[in-house]
Amino acid sequence: MTDKLIIFDTTLRDGEQSPGASMTRDEKVRIAKSLERLRVDVIEAGFPAASQGDFEAVQAVARAVKETTVCGLARALAQDIDRAGEALKEARRARIHTFIATSPIHMRQKLRMTPDQVLEHAVEAVKRARRFTDDVEFSPEDAGRSEEDFLCRILEAVIEAGATTLNIPDTVGYSVPEQFGATLRRLRERIPNADKAIFSVHCHNDLGLAVANSLAAVLNGARQVECTINGLGERAGNAALEEIVMAVITRKDVFPCHVDIDTREIVPCSKLVSNITGFPVQPNKAIVGANAFAHEAGIHQDGILKHRETYEIMRAEEVGWTANRMVLGKHSGRNAFKARLLELGVEFSSEAELNAVFQRFKDLADKKHEVFDEDLQALLTEVGVEAEDERVKLVALKVCSETGKVPCAQVTLRTERGEVYGAAEGSGAVDASFRAIEAVVATQSQLLLYSVNNITTGTDAQGEVTVRLEKGGRIVNGQGADTDIVIASAKAYINAVNKLLAPQKMHPQVPGNV
Ligand code: KIV
Ligand code: ZN
Repeated sequence: MTDKLIIFDTTLRDGEQSPGASMTRDEKVRIAKSLERLRVDVIEAGFPAASQGDFEAVQAVARAVKETTVCGLARALAQDIDRAGEALKEARRARIHTFIATSPIHMRQKLRMTPDQVLEHAVEAVKRARRFTDDVEFSPEDAGRSEEDFLCRILEAVIEAGATTLNIPDTVGYSVPEQFGATLRRLRERIPNADKAIFSVHCHNDLGLAVANSLAAVLNGARQVECTINGLGERAGNAALEEIVMAVITRKDVFPCHVDIDTREIVPCSKLVSNITGFPVQPNKAIVGANAFAHEAGIHQDGILKHRETYEIMRAEEVGWTANRMVLGKHSGRNAFKARLLELGVEFSSEAELNAVFQRFKDLADKKHEVFDEDLQALLTEVGVEAEDERVKLVALKVCSETGKVPCAQVTLRTERGEVYGAAEGSGAVDASFRAIEAVVATQSQLLLYSVNNITTGTDAQGEVTVRLEKGGRIVNGQGADTDIVIASAKAYINAVNKLLAPQKMHPQVPGNV
């Protein structure tokens, strides 16, 4: 039997730190359920000290997840650790992940602390976390640029204080595989009590090397990899879970370890994360991109037809690519609807809530006869968004678009001022709609991105629109889905406006936040 490689998913924490990717409590719970079906070992659910909302989101994930370990991030500060411990109280298995920066530049410029003070904070933090759980992870932030002697000193001390996992983050994505692998090996050799803890890695993708660096570390003894679905994460993102997992499985001959992942859940989970965050997956993305298993060139097709392995090293079905499965239709009853949603990990807190969502499903099934899992997920995202305290809501939209005429839009929005009407002309129906909405809400934000994807195939498919807005350096993503893409676009714009109006989350790693 080979060693187990622990898959630690941080989509809900580091993934969420990606500008525009913030998630609501219910969205986090839906993703956590999907991660549990994927059978990841640890779900990092968030940073409970950030706000009451973040605390409640971690708490909700801790309650909803049955088997998987749920982890909360905490700076090496007593109040953060107590908050994480409290949020995780109801988790079946709880982990506290505490961190403090150890690179000369971070200690000097960000923390304004000496190495000895940093070490003392780290030890105190780990001891405090052990009051809440036996499962404590410690990260020396910016380890990729830290001095090795200091890393050895601090890691030895935190193991002594009770840390059970030592995570080596390449916070700024500076490392390269051979060097990072060698660092892991030397740390394991030099730290006298290294055998008392599991070594983990957490690599960022600034040089496009996050997966390569993580795998180099695995070859040198790391037995936990921190990663995210679709490689979501700060700046260029984190190591992509699907790539790590499939590399270890496909190249068993190279990696001396195994994972316990249900790979058929990879694509559904990837689609869910993309739907909820509004970060589309590029078509040529490994494993989860739409073209990852498409063989278009005639020569490849011929090869594949004769013998699959000629051009394929993995099977599409193995990672969850199946033809869209029609799960429900116009004649499906309430019980079938409820049962399918239960399978997707969605439970309703009341009959009234179920009835409201069921009615939305019926409306959709009237317009679109075949309703797939992806449609249900988009519908749930929309209902969830409405349930949050929405300040602006779409009441009605009318657009006119005619050859030779200037497109125009008229919109009625429900706002704190009651129902407000706005009208505008634009270069197209979508542009006119956005201008009409802006005439009411006046956010004066800048549109950074507008993208449309069809959720499933066919002209009756729902269009899923992502709108990214920026105001004063703050970036938010809004999503909307509808069988009419102009309406989907208006919903996405309004969703982004609501996020701009919501309070901003605290980031655990920025200077000033220690
Ligand atoms: O990138 C990083 O250093 C982190 C730490 C909080 C582990 O995300
Ligand atoms: Zn990170």
